[in-house]
Amino acid sequence: MAIQLETNRIILREFMLHDLEEFHTLETNEAVLKYLTNYPKRTLNESKEILCQVIEQYRNFKTGRLAIIDKATQGFIGWCGIKFNNHKRHVYENFYDLGYRIHPNYWGNGFATEASIACLNYGLNDLEISNVSAIVNTQNTQSLKVISKVGFNYKESFLEHNTEKHWYEVTRK
Ligand SMILES: CC(C)(COP(=O)(O)OP(=O)(O)OC[C@H]1O[C@@H](n2cnc3c(N)ncnc32)[C@H](O)[C@@H]1OP(=O)(O)O)[C@@H](O)C(=O)NCCC(=O)NCCS
Repeated sequence: MAIQLETNRIILREFMLHDLEEFHTLETNEAVLKYLTNYPKRTLNESKEILCQVIEQYRNFKTGRLAIIDKATQGFIGWCGIKFNNHKRHVYENFYDLGYRIHPNYWGNGFATEASIACLNYGLNDLEISNVSAIVNTQNTQSLKVISKVGFNYKESFLEHNTEKHWYEVTRK
């Protein structure tokens, strides 16, 4: 069955290929990419490849990055979700991480916080994932605020592409 989560204001649902334009907008928006170091500016075709990988994750891991839809307007707000990482970051590999991107039109309305709480609840309680990480650029104040509001604990700091990042974790109770 397709993954779908719901909160007061939003639906989190699986991405589909027809979401490519909206997905690509986030992949190429300067403000959205500001703190994502070493992130290449993608062509539409490259975004399509990434979107296909996102979609593939759902079947393999029952989780992944989900599209956030505004219940009131059906507008595309952005994405949020827990993804399984099999590549190395810092000294870790094969871990779950929470990630999110919100379209700037929707910033500062609590959407990332609301979506993160729903995704963590799904991952930790429904899927019984024992541990979820989050990696944040130390300059990314907005993201640090979200992390502090949804229950993560600071683990350590490290350098990635010459940029200081914080590593956070939340553990299943
Ligand atoms: C980080 C991001 C997802 C936050 O989304 P959002 O929906 O605006 O987040 P929320 O509204 O839930 O919370 C943002 C918090 O930052 C605050 N904030 C907004 N603009 C800010 C700014 N310029 N400086 C500092 N804080 C700011 C908000 O007031 C809110 O804090 P509060 O709840 O204490 O008032 C969004 O800015 C984004 O997509 N950024 C680009 C992608 C990105 O950096 N992703 C995270 C990678 S780790």
